[in-house]
Amino acid sequence: QPTLLADYRPYPFTLDHVSLTFRLAPKGTRVCAKLSLAPKDGPADLVLDGEDLRLISIALDGTALDPATLTLTDRQLTLPAAALPAGPFTLETEVEIDPEANTALEGLYLSGGMFCTQCEAEGFRHITYYPDRPDVMARFDVRIESDMPVLLSNGNPVAQGAGWAEWRDPWPKPAYLFALVAGNLVALRDDFITASGRTVDLAIWVRPGDEDRCAYAMDALKRSMAWDESTYGREYDLDVFNIVAVDDFNMGAMENKGLNIFNAKLVLASPETATDTDYERIESVIAHEYFHNWTGNRITCRDWFQLCLKEGLTVFRDQQFSADERSAAVRRIEDVLALRARQFREDAGPLAHPVRPESYVEINNFYTATVYEKGAEVIGMLRRLVGPEGYRRALDLYFDRHDGQAATIEDWLKVFEDACDRDLTQFKRWYTEAGTPRLHVTEDWDAEAGRFTLEFTQETAATPGQPVKGARVIPVELGLLGPNGDEVQPSTLIEITEPRQSAVFEGLSARPVPSILRGFSAPVILERETTQAARAFLFAHDTDPFNRWEAGRNLARTALMALARGAATAPDPELIAAYGPLLRDAETDPAFAALCLRLPGEDEIAAALHGAGHTPDPAEIHAARARLARAIAQAHEEALAALYIRMKDDGPYSPDAGPAGRRALRLACLGLLNRLDNGARAQALFAEAGNMTESLSALACLIETNKAAGALAEFRDRWAGERLVMDKWFLVQMLHAAPDRAAQEAAHLAALPEFDWKNPNRFRSLMGGLSANHAGFHHASGAGYRFYADWLIRMDAMNPQITARMSTAFETWPRYDAGRQALARAELQRIAATEGLSRDTGEMVARLLAAG
Ligand code: ARG
Ligand code: ZN
Repeated sequence: QPTLLADYRPYPFTLDHVSLTFRLAPKGTRVCAKLSLAPKDGPADLVLDGEDLRLISIALDGTALDPATLTLTDRQLTLPAAALPAGPFTLETEVEIDPEANTALEGLYLSGGMFCTQCEAEGFRHITYYPDRPDVMARFDVRIESDMPVLLSNGNPVAQGAGWAEWRDPWPKPAYLFALVAGNLVALRDDFITASGRTVDLAIWVRPGDEDRCAYAMDALKRSMAWDESTYGREYDLDVFNIVAVDDFNMGAMENKGLNIFNAKLVLASPETATDTDYERIESVIAHEYFHNWTGNRITCRDWFQLCLKEGLTVFRDQQFSADERSAAVRRIEDVLALRARQFREDAGPLAHPVRPESYVEINNFYTATVYEKGAEVIGMLRRLVGPEGYRRALDLYFDRHDGQAATIEDWLKVFEDACDRDLTQFKRWYTEAGTPRLHVTEDWDAEAGRFTLEFTQETAATPGQPVKGARVIPVELGLLGPNGDEVQPSTLIEITEPRQSAVFEGLSARPVPSILRGFSAPVILERETTQAARAFLFAHDTDPFNRWEAGRNLARTALMALARGAATAPDPELIAAYGPLLRDAETDPAFAALCLRLPGEDEIAAALHGAGHTPDPAEIHAARARLARAIAQAHEEALAALYIRMKDDGPYSPDAGPAGRRALRLACLGLLNRLDNGARAQALFAEAGNMTESLSALACLIETNKAAGALAEFRDRWAGERLVMDKWFLVQMLHAAPDRAAQEAAHLAALPEFDWKNPNRFRSLMGGLSANHAGFHHASGAGYRFYADWLIRMDAMNPQITARMSTAFETWPRYDAGRQALARAELQRIAATEGLSRDTGEMVARLLAAG
């Protein structure tokens, strides 16, 4: 039943052109498809994918086919080779589909009265019979007939009249990039002039009333287009670029050729309704989807095993863009935080898989942090190893050599080998082997010789299906600091390739402090036996901002681990003291200081304890974190309070990095002070807040101090009609609910009329909030697990993709004590035993259970 990379075979037909006609109706949409096919190398059966389609008619070269000649299953239509001509032929089908009944939101469906599509990965087969695989690339002509006022598809508009419109996409594409939208929409319009002087008409389509919340997305789009020209030499290739915002969407957004479809939360923003983080995400996702036009669309994937070819590269590109548009150091820290929270966690558990997997049951289950974020890290390492010029040469060659093709990871690595004259055989392990390598470092100082030696050993633990791992190529950026904090060895790149390898530095007059893995130059777990004092030294002096932050993080994590497992009885004074200089200097880079003030999350502490051989206790972790935060606040109350006042912004709201950084610092101070003032500042801030960033932080503080009843009611009244804001209302309550009450609170919220669970965003707010409430979800009573599983079972019948994705909340279950393990296992078994469970969720639960 699983699909295997090793089983790949080219499609035996060429398909150079497709004509589609849609007669849209909510319950009975008719889709006529005319495919121009030709056998490639002699006779073969023609196999087309198709699911939930009602076949009305089928004709070969204009002649109706006798139904007896074809085989129809619930997944495929097959025409035997004997029934096909030896040369080119056309196949015409008409099917009926039911968009209104499509609650899985895959294929053609309805969202708030508008028709829209989501075809990646295998949604197109829910629209018509077709070779639904990415290596079949065809030119599409589309005719839409509907009385909806706006009718959109891929490519350029050809003609339109009352009740119809025609579109033509000149660029061959796989079916997963097909899109259609029909609805009552209004546009924010603009244009962009490309480097070669062509004008592209830009439009962002939204529901009437939302058009004044699109300006930031439009601005981000234009900056993305300019950036891809100047940084990668990539110009846009159609006359129009359309973006549509939809309310019901399984994912973040989708890069359909010339017609990107977005989850509304990643387009719509105003200061009153969106937070600074929302603005930042909108910018990066707009860029991401736009960048796919070259990395994904012009060059696509041969098969879905190669997903990281487009996703890893496009994430890497959007990260580079954000780093250029904002503070590079701050962005890098944020990206690494996300990588560790999601991808390291995945790599350490039952769902671990290589960046390029070799087997899947349901491909939608592999749109993961490993494929996306670790996929991007692998490209960052490549770039570091060959240098920026080598990287640019390789990318130029990639676009040159593979434009218009469906490529593989082997093709990708080959352009680097050819452009940079390097052998990447060993490097390829990053794509084929799962698991996060642990890089262990020991130091040796020979005072007499003035010689400092670092010895590295690397090891990657077994992951499901991969018991043995080879040594990786690990680029380690490092520098050495002298006793006064001056840099005695500037940053240099060490390339680790062996299981054990050392680096020697000569001619030093005093024992240096090494700053290793600067900029997080490889996605590994760095293990160093070092003291809190050495960490504090780096936190104060490191010239690499990433490692400065990292030293502070390690300091805090170590202190929290000791507290949580009872190895320390009081918060580490070394740590508390280290915040003094940070706060004195905070205004130099407020965003950076805000990141340094943020304590490691509970899940991160649990992962670290588990990695060190201890069994994490979620309740103890929660208590330790609260205790440390309070101790920091007490020790630095004055400085925090002063910063809280100085960082206040009286000007008009701007989402730019500067003002957002000042807000972040101010709100980080608030979070700590809230432990002392019992919600007093938060109360005042909630009353006067001029933007959603402040309102929401104030609300979080009030929930934590049990003072939120009034504010929550006020917020709910004020934002009753705003779906995206009400999502935040659900989320903030779940994130900050007291652990002992979290499941109860979730049940209470789920019973409210506003809990429209069929809307993916609303469902994710409540459920995602609960699972992110570490001590609440993993409560010893099992109430968190039970509530969560109840809803997964209910949702699976409606929307398998969302359910399967949300099931990853259980991926850390083997980490906890036997009692919790038994409770989690029982819930997973209950899900697995559900009658009619989807393939998506079935695969996930089976993998989760295989761990124990
Ligand atoms: N390609 C989209 C993006 O990353 C994501 C689409 C994911 N769809 C899915 N069904 N898993 O930009
Ligand atoms: Zn993508």
